[in-house]
Amino acid sequence: EVQGKRLLPLCLYIAVFKNTFLDFFTMQKGMVNSMKVIMLGAPGAGKGTQAKMIAEKYGVPHISTGDIFRANIKEGTELGMEAKKYMDQGQLVPDELTVRILLDRVAKDDCKNGYVLDGFPRTIPQAEVLDKALSEINDKIDYAINVDVPDENIINRMGGRRACLSCGATYHMVHIPPKKEGICDVCGQPLVLRDDDKPETVKNRLDVYHKQTQPLIDFYNAKGILKSVDGTVDMKDVFAAIVAILG
Ligand code: AP5
Ligand code: MG
Repeated sequence: EVQGKRLLPLCLYIAVFKNTFLDFFTMQKGMVNSMKVIMLGAPGAGKGTQAKMIAEKYGVPHISTGDIFRANIKEGTELGMEAKKYMDQGQLVPDELTVRILLDRVAKDDCKNGYVLDGFPRTIPQAEVLDKALSEINDKIDYAINVDVPDENIINRMGGRRACLSCGATYHMVHIPPKKEGICDVCGQPLVLRDDDKPETVKNRLDVYHKQTQPLIDFYNAKGILKSVDGTVDMKDVFAAIVAILG
């Protein structure tokens, strides 16, 4: 009975201050989770696959410029029409347009604890604009993770990939098939072979990658934040290697 009497005030205390406790712990969690990560890697290296897993584990948004463009193409917006001209050829969308979209996106409220950027930056000028925008608010990127996969493996993967243009989920006919053939597990929409996953376009995308994006590996290495992981192993093992880096 004495114990009961002691517990009662404690319970009342917890009931009254519960939200304060929760806020405190959420804040702590937010602080621990606060991280800004860039995914580097060739087209089809698994940037999107890993970025989604990182976003889920660390509670930060996954931001893919490719997904943003594809959503706009699907909705038939002006931005979508402009981006499609380049994407269908396997070329990069001009920096000016891409940078504007990305900076708008990372300024949103859900990015205050960090984010995973997938497919941005893709050129040195894009990386410099991002750096400058972050340093103006006393901020910086924590890690640039390079998912390393040789060109030979890429060609195979792309032909098997199926994408949901509604929610951005990605599948592979052999490695990660959807529960129901041709239908997205997440939103029930039909899965498609992306227009730019046709073999001749994949080759262009690889050329563009080597010329314009690969130099970013040296760029982030010089800043001391580059980490490379072997992207040819099972995706769970790729993720384990990334978690070992991010902590
Ligand atoms: P974007 O959408 O970014 O395409 P990408 O870089 O070509 O990369 P992908 O999305 O094709 O591959 P991924 O690395 O995400 O691999 P995924 O996880 O899907 O960009 C498309 C276009 O938009 C660009 O070409 C450009 O025109 C434009 N664009 C976008 N951003 C731009 C920017 N910043 N500047 C200018 N233009 C821009 O995996 C691939 C497949 O492999 C999947 O089927 C997956 O299931 C499978 N897979 C993944 N991991 C593994 C594994 N470990 N083992 C076996 N299979 C795996
Ligand atoms: Mg992707």
